Amino acid sequence: MITVRSGAVLIIFLAAIATHLSVSADDFTDMPDDKGRLEVFVQCSLCHSMQIVNQQGLSRAAWKKLLVWMVDEQEMTQMDSNTELLVLDYLGKHYSPETQKQRLRDRGLLP
Ligand code: HEC
Repeated sequence: MITVRSGAVLIIFLAAIATHLSVSADDFTDMPDDKGRLEVFVQCSLCHSMQIVNQQGLSRAAWKKLLVWMVDEQEMTQMDSNTELLVLDYLGKHYSPETQKQRLRDRGLLP
């Protein structure tokens, strides 16, 4: 039975989780709009900010290796194969060495 008291405890618990998660709306709005965007955001913001993803510019193959590491060493749950395809396509397209250089150019950090 859910009492008023346990309801209050639940709310405090959820608030604690929300502040613990490093999810920010900015992280999502900064991401290029394309297929796989939501999947990447949901999967990758579970443990850390999207900024950590932003800082990388990797080929699709290198992203694939990094995700193996994320599952083997960082306790990430293995994604189902459809989600993994969407995530890898998105990462390989929008977080590649070229797009990373472009992001740095946009910020005036590269000529
Ligand atoms: C279960 C938790 C978890 C999930 C989910 C997760 N990561 Fe990570 N990730 C980590 C941890 C832990 C680190 C290491 C942070 C550190 O070194 O301080 C990390 C580090 C990284 C790094 C930095 C690697 C480096 O060499 O410095 C990148 C890039 C990254 N994650 C990308 C992703 C992407 C992309 C996704 C989604 C597909 C994702 N992560 C999902 C836990 C997770």
